[in-house]
Amino acid sequence: MSATAPEVIKSQHDVKNTSLFFRRWLANPLQMGSIIPSSPALCRRVAAAVERGTEDYVLEIGAGTGVISKALIEAGVPARKLIVVEIVTEMAEHLREALPGANVICGDAFDLGRIMPAEMKNRIGTAICGIPLVMLPRDRQQAFIDAVEAVAPGKGFLLYTYCVTSPLSPGKLKLDAKRMAWTPLNFPPASVWRYRPKAHQA
Ligand SMILES: C[S@@+](CC[C@H](N)C(=O)[O-])C[C@H]1O[C@@H](n2cnc3c(N)ncnc32)[C@H](O)[C@@H]1O
Repeated sequence: MSATAPEVIKSQHDVKNTSLFFRRWLANPLQMGSIIPSSPALCRRVAAAVERGTEDYVLEIGAGTGVISKALIEAGVPARKLIVVEIVTEMAEHLREALPGANVICGDAFDLGRIMPAEMKNRIGTAICGIPLVMLPRDRQQAFIDAVEAVAPGKGFLLYTYCVTSPLSPGKLKLDAKRMAWTPLNFPPASVWRYRPKAHQA
């Protein structure tokens, strides 16, 4: 069921989460990429695009205050099968409290190969990217793609974005791109894209 506009406002302005989010945006706007957390409608659309076998992990990169993580759990991903990576220590501590049983890693997504426990590598069904890739130069975007490839070969990732068109250049980054969903019920309206490395296409 779709969220109503009041639901968007209510969730995106949940006082505790939003004040943490907004403080971090003030501290480092480029790292946060957004002033407030994703809306319930966007979280549900991301969760609906997840593909996983029963034993696969879901990797969420840039989990913020955990709104998408919670939508994933509500959609049936067991907390023990959820890996969330967050670079900001204060947010990672918040996530450990908010997501009992989930695997919270405080670290840099560009260093996934080093920070992720060996037993979780190559067992990821879907990776989800929350970090604002569109604001990064292309060599950093490529470094992110390589970092995901190191732990989830061939899987690519879902990316939610406020851009009207693809936020990544599929041709230059050798990706296949597909827009999976769009919702006006987010501030700003947002899309969910799936990217996969071309080398891994059937
Ligand atoms: C746009 S917010 C998304 C937060 C949340 N997933 C949501 O939808 O509301 C981006 C998040 O990515 C985190 N982040 C930015 N760069 C990162 C990096 N290199 N490694 C891990 N997390 C990062 C930020 O701290 C922030 O929490």
